Amino acid sequence: MRGPRRPSGEGAMNEQRLLQHLVATLRAKGALRTEPWKEAAAAVPRHEFLRGGFFRAVPGTEPTAWTSVRPDSGEWLPACYLDESLVTQIAGTVRPADIRGEIMREPTSSSTLPSLVLRMFEDLEVEPGMKMLEIGTGTGYSTALACRRLGSENVTSIEYDADVAQSAREALGRLDLYPTLLTGDGLLGAAELGPYDRIIATCAVHTVPTSWIEQTRPGGRILTVIAGRLNASALVRLTVHGDGTASGPVLDGHVSFMPARSHAPPPLGVLPDLSAGRERGTGIGADVLADRTTRLITQFAVPAARHLKLRVGHRDEDVVIDEETGAWTALRAEGSGWIVREGGAHPLWETVEELIERWRSDGGPAVEQTTVTVTAHSQSIRW
Ligand SMILES: C[S@@+](CC[C@H](N)C(=O)[O-])C[C@H]1O[C@@H](n2cnc3c(N)ncnc32)[C@H](O)[C@@H]1O
Repeated sequence: MRGPRRPSGEGAMNEQRLLQHLVATLRAKGALRTEPWKEAAAAVPRHEFLRGGFFRAVPGTEPTAWTSVRPDSGEWLPACYLDESLVTQIAGTVRPADIRGEIMREPTSSSTLPSLVLRMFEDLEVEPGMKMLEIGTGTGYSTALACRRLGSENVTSIEYDADVAQSAREALGRLDLYPTLLTGDGLLGAAELGPYDRIIATCAVHTVPTSWIEQTRPGGRILTVIAGRLNASALVRLTVHGDGTASGPVLDGHVSFMPARSHAPPPLGVLPDLSAGRERGTGIGADVLADRTTRLITQFAVPAARHLKLRVGHRDEDVVIDEETGAWTALRAEGSGWIVREGGAHPLWETVEELIERWRSDGGPAVEQTTVTVTAHSQSIRW
């Protein structure tokens, strides 16, 4: 059995000092509220999960450019102990060792910021004696925290990417932690090892998979970020009921994660002809897509819809297209109201108007006052 790679005296003291400082920072921020999770955090040296280096965003770039920070650089070790997410893979294959200059592609794996991981475990009320499934092993840092709290034998973690999964396995092995690590699509869960008391996802889903509900025992809980095509996201804690449904509150704070690989939006394809269509006035315009709460409610109303800003004829319009049915809505401000033009198989915007009008007439409750319900066929928001 391979133990952790131990640096000489001074190096080890420096690592220990940095870890203690991180834990103290998390406590001071209120991100670490309970003693057992404090102990777990203090027992996981984060740099072990970042031995392949990480990517740093180049300030002022749009779209973001990334450069790599390798373990032989002086900034590597201190950065491992900052309360920051550190990107470890880009575009599904590129690791920090592969890059000399800059790369401008999307991150596909990272070590989540410690305060968020710990907050999620505390919110999920993960307790010893429970069996937990994690979706999105990533570097293995959050898996290690769960192992410290529950024992490796009670932790199963699934990673989509085989290369990322292998690095996590090695890092966990250096700390003598041997949870069940699976490689594959975590949206399918791992029925053969269930049922679970808790499921946690550190990648975002646009719909909570039925498999997760089926694999959680009644009364058990699922914590995940729901993030849809309108770029609204919400951290939800669902309790699983005996009838195959799950429901629970949207938790506070603006939490976002990279999308589960199999839930990433498909290419948009050919746009419908947006110049034709029926026009009418509406009090519910594109401004609902600018506000966090109403964007989230709109996303629940039309979950397969995407939002684009397009020039149609000689005007700039906000266009919402349902990518499953092709139904579309084009919105433009006129006077003190809005004009909506619609086309396709069904009146898309009417569904949005109905839900937003109900929300307004109920006093416009905050996101944190809402509840999400998931059944085998639908996902809805209530307040
Ligand atoms: C934010 S990272 C996870 C961070 C991890 N919890 C940590 O502390 O290092 C998200 C991970 O989810 C993985 N992922 C994305 N889609 C997935 C899927 N469908 N099943 C399993 N893992 C997935 C990504 O490859 C990525 O490694």
